[in-house]
Amino acid sequence: MTCYVTTPIYYANSLPHLGHLYTMIVADTIARSKRQRGIETFFLTGTDEHGINIERAAQRNNRTPKEQADYVVEYFKKMTSAFGLDTAHGGYDIFMRTTEPFHYEGVGEFWRRVAKAKTPKGNDALYQGHYEGWFCAACAAYKTEDEYAKSENPDEPPICLIHETKLDRVSEESYFFRLSDYDEALLSLYESRADFVRPEARRNEVKSFVAGGLQDLSVSRLRSSVSWGIPVPDDPQHTMYVWFDALTNYITAIGFGNEQQNRAIGFEKFWPALHLVGKDILRFHAVYWPAFLLAAGVEQPRAIVAHGMWVDPTGRKMSKTLGNTIELDVLNKYFPIDAIRYFCLREMVFGQDGRFGYESLIDRTNSDLASGLGNLSSRTLTMIQRYCEGRIPSRLISDEARLRAKRAGVETDEATVSKLLAQAREQFIKHFDDFSFNRALEEAWAIVSRVDKMISDARPWDLAKDQSQRQTLNAVLYRAAETLRWLAVLLYPMMPNATRQIYQQLGLPDEVSTIDPATLRWGDLPEGTQIGEIKPLFPRIDKARIMEEIKEQESGIGTQELEKRGGSAAVGEGATQSVPATTHSDAVPGVANFIDITDFAKVDLRVGEVKTAERIPKADKLLLITVDIGEEKPRQILAGIAQYYEPEKLIGRKIVVVANLKPRKLRGYESQGMLLAASVGDEGKPVIATFAEDVPNGARLK
Ligand code: MSP
Repeated sequence: MTCYVTTPIYYANSLPHLGHLYTMIVADTIARSKRQRGIETFFLTGTDEHGINIERAAQRNNRTPKEQADYVVEYFKKMTSAFGLDTAHGGYDIFMRTTEPFHYEGVGEFWRRVAKAKTPKGNDALYQGHYEGWFCAACAAYKTEDEYAKSENPDEPPICLIHETKLDRVSEESYFFRLSDYDEALLSLYESRADFVRPEARRNEVKSFVAGGLQDLSVSRLRSSVSWGIPVPDDPQHTMYVWFDALTNYITAIGFGNEQQNRAIGFEKFWPALHLVGKDILRFHAVYWPAFLLAAGVEQPRAIVAHGMWVDPTGRKMSKTLGNTIELDVLNKYFPIDAIRYFCLREMVFGQDGRFGYESLIDRTNSDLASGLGNLSSRTLTMIQRYCEGRIPSRLISDEARLRAKRAGVETDEATVSKLLAQAREQFIKHFDDFSFNRALEEAWAIVSRVDKMISDARPWDLAKDQSQRQTLNAVLYRAAETLRWLAVLLYPMMPNATRQIYQQLGLPDEVSTIDPATLRWGDLPEGTQIGEIKPLFPRIDKARIMEEIKEQESGIGTQELEKRGGSAAVGEGATQSVPATTHSDAVPGVANFIDITDFAKVDLRVGEVKTAERIPKADKLLLITVDIGEEKPRQILAGIAQYYEPEKLIGRKIVVVANLKPRKLRGYESQGMLLAASVGDEGKPVIATFAEDVPNGARLK
């Protein structure tokens, strides 16, 4: 038996974010759990590198599309390594790239099969026609009337309701996939396999979408309009539709259509896959992909499992413009990987949207991990160290001692304790296999509380003073340690690092990653085992201090991390809490957010002249500058431009300053304003706004 689990392959037009990290964490958790149960598993992630959106991102960044993809891939790989999700850390097995030659070959084969196929209604699955309609480059999808909004100006194209970006008019020759002939076949697939699309609510959505009737799908673009893509076999004037190419990655990665790749991995061995996707791309996976597979005569995926979206703590969609995103650099710097994994799995009810904020991440880390699991582990081991000379004590207890303990409210009967644990394991696995990770974790934390209570009720520190209570003390500590071992095995797929540490601290030589939870037997923790060095699993996080640092850090990385589309940005105090004037080049002016002139007038923009500029010790992104804006005293401003500007070269420059921004302290310095700069390229390189003509200091911009 084998298992194949996939994440979506991510667009190579922008750098990874929390949404990407989340799907990878879920896929990684599933893959680890399968491996732990002895199932040979293959875990795929990667990048989707073709199409107009990548082509445009490349143009904006002055790169070729391949250079753009390489740049993003490098970043993705760094991210997966930093979060322990790459091969070296026991994570993914392949980082799939759709620019790989074996993929070209495999997709070619897949296309040919579809081109030869008849639909269930006896028509050609593929035909040539003319496409006329609207296309959203960001969705890489054609849009029907209910999926876009008309612009107020009739000469302007309509706007995608998801991305709020202008649609492209497409009117050209195209190959079509006869999707309209597949409705019955798809409905019977959903009917016959109740767990094909999960969770249930999503399955119902997909069913009603298909039942509402399907339109044929344009699956190519003329090479003259989209050149960055895979040519249609035997007709190189056409480029394959990027979703046709991208979805096929799931089979080409393991060897479909390429002998060498097949020998290295094995299509027959691993297919069908479990696809993990965000709910926003469910239609592509649960409707188009199964239909393509039906046409090509390839077996259907094992399941398509859709998760919800992360929103900010107030329920708003995360976006750079709103300044409410979660930065991966910040997560990585301030939080243990397992705390992030725990939060993602505990906080999101799978399939529904979840709220993600740094403050709640800190709260959960402190309460559930530092005070919960971490404290249970350290108090148990510390007492074994102190009262049992660092060796796992005997589990045996006489009837008399057991009854005495019971009268004191402490259950030490092995049959009772082990039965409870076995039941919890069963529930844990059931919820886990059902993708209800939050409920599985609740089960595990109910055990944590129970054992914590057992320890507190038994008061080992008192038992230790009375030699006649020795057996009870040993039994209580053994039960706590054995429960910890069980918890480590159950929780390993979710928290690989902390559970490994628990195993080591318990003194166990085995790799927790190889212990099948089903084989756990009460009492297998050997008496007399010398425990390892005790270290806190999750140090407490000082919320006030870390939140302050995160805010500072965000100001520092503001320009570097600002959206990679080349919009204008403010640099300096609160750079990521973008100013009202911030726009993306892709955003449609006036559609997303009109402001009126009185709103604009609230921003006091002034001409300033840089008087002094210097670096700040230990803040490699910030410069401390003073600027004359026509006031009595120059303003002091902190700007996140240190990586791009030599301080000396700034002196004497005329710049634009937001003069009425609330002062804020950063790194111990008060910042009394903000300077404006464009944010350029993928790095968000700041380019300071300036004047071509001479202007007096303090002149207002309006
Ligand atoms: N390239 C396509 C997928 C092709 S698969 C054959 C694509 N790429 S993507 O980079 O835009 O998105 C990848 C995944 O990130 C999607 O599953 C999407 O749901 C997920 N997320 C994007 N934003 C998210 C959140 N805010 N929260 C959770 N997941 C989110 O689509």
